[in-house]
Amino acid sequence: MSGVSFDALWSAIPYPAFIVAPDDSIAGANPSAEEFGSTSEKQMHGKPVDYYLGANSVVMEVVRQARKNDIPVTQYNVMVGWLGNVPTLQNVHAVPMREACDKILILLHPQGRAAKMDRSLTHRSAARSVSGMAAMLAHEIRNPLAGISGAAQLLEMGLTDADRELTGLIRGEAERIGSLVDRVEKFGDLRPTQRIAFNIHDVLDRTRRSAQAGFANHVRFREDFDPSLPPALGDPDQMLQVFQNLMKNAAEALPPTGGLITVTTAFRPGVKLSRPGGRSESLPLLVVIGDNGPGIPDSMVADIFDPFVSSKVNGTGLGLSLVSKIISDHGGVVECESRPGRTRFLVRLPISRDEQVSEEG
Ligand SMILES: Nc1ncnc2c1ncn2[C@@H]1O[C@H](COP(=O)(O)OP(=O)(O)OP(=O)(O)O)[C@@H](O)[C@H]1O
Ligand SMILES: [Mg+2]
Repeated sequence: MSGVSFDALWSAIPYPAFIVAPDDSIAGANPSAEEFGSTSEKQMHGKPVDYYLGANSVVMEVVRQARKNDIPVTQYNVMVGWLGNVPTLQNVHAVPMREACDKILILLHPQGRAAKMDRSLTHRSAARSVSGMAAMLAHEIRNPLAGISGAAQLLEMGLTDADRELTGLIRGEAERIGSLVDRVEKFGDLRPTQRIAFNIHDVLDRTRRSAQAGFANHVRFREDFDPSLPPALGDPDQMLQVFQNLMKNAAEALPPTGGLITVTTAFRPGVKLSRPGGRSESLPLLVVIGDNGPGIPDSMVADIFDPFVSSKVNGTGLGLSLVSKIISDHGGVVECESRPGRTRFLVRLPISRDEQVSEEG
């Protein structure tokens, strides 16, 4: 960090950042914070945070937790108001600054991804009827498709090599439609999500092994697991699908040689998701699937969790929207960070209070 002054860093942070003193007064605000509050740092300095955020702001709750436990605390999906302004949806990070007389740093991160998830939640019933339709269509396509491939197979018997190439084409394309139908049908799967305690490392291991035997056989894997992780809560089969989609995307982005996928787990006790109605759920389980591929183009990164967004010739663009659907059914959060050489998908999940891991998991 030598040569970089605190002031330069402080002004460069593109998100509103505040420093809160032990008496809950504002001890600092960066330029983004001044802009966020339409208030100068000079005006804010020394005033109680409550004055701006309101007496019952969740932000102060996050600050108090960080202070009490002396750990960084993050809460997703918090409505943050400022004086009389219309509240906006933010992720709130509160970080204890031990070297600075027990002050707390607050960072507000306007919601991109999670806001999207929220939108997908409000559109859930629409999505349900679409997926019901998809399931029905998939079912109806399958029968004639089987007929087409069967007929091509029969025709093949009495043909010359040149014509056999054509029947091969028919069968190949029918197979392709078949696998597309499979994926659409999976997306439309309306089975309720199981809620059992399961070992996330077993699921990750299983996914990694099947990936290495198939679509990721050109890639090196590195695992960095936190062995003390408590059991996760949810549906292990659906989670397997999540990690399979993430690893498949990573493998598809990686070159034939030199590709590396990293699978990391960690316990982050200070992460919460606010729910409508003021409740919040703890999401301490972190799984990161990373790769050293070329990254996701800036123009795409905001939309990759939407259905049918794909840069691949044969891609359906359903992989990541399935991932985000499953994670949101689990009450979790998925985020993506990407730059050339380093792409990471971060999955945050609730844990089970049961120590006992179910046999199925
Ligand atoms: N690890 C990654 N590195 C680079 N680009 C990625 C990565 N993961 C996703 N993407 C981009 O996001 C797009 C959407 O991914 P998604 O899994 O939803 O669909 P897809 O992989 O294109 O199709 P499908 O999953 O149906 O095969 C991809 O086409 C790709 O451009
Ligand atoms: Mg994919």
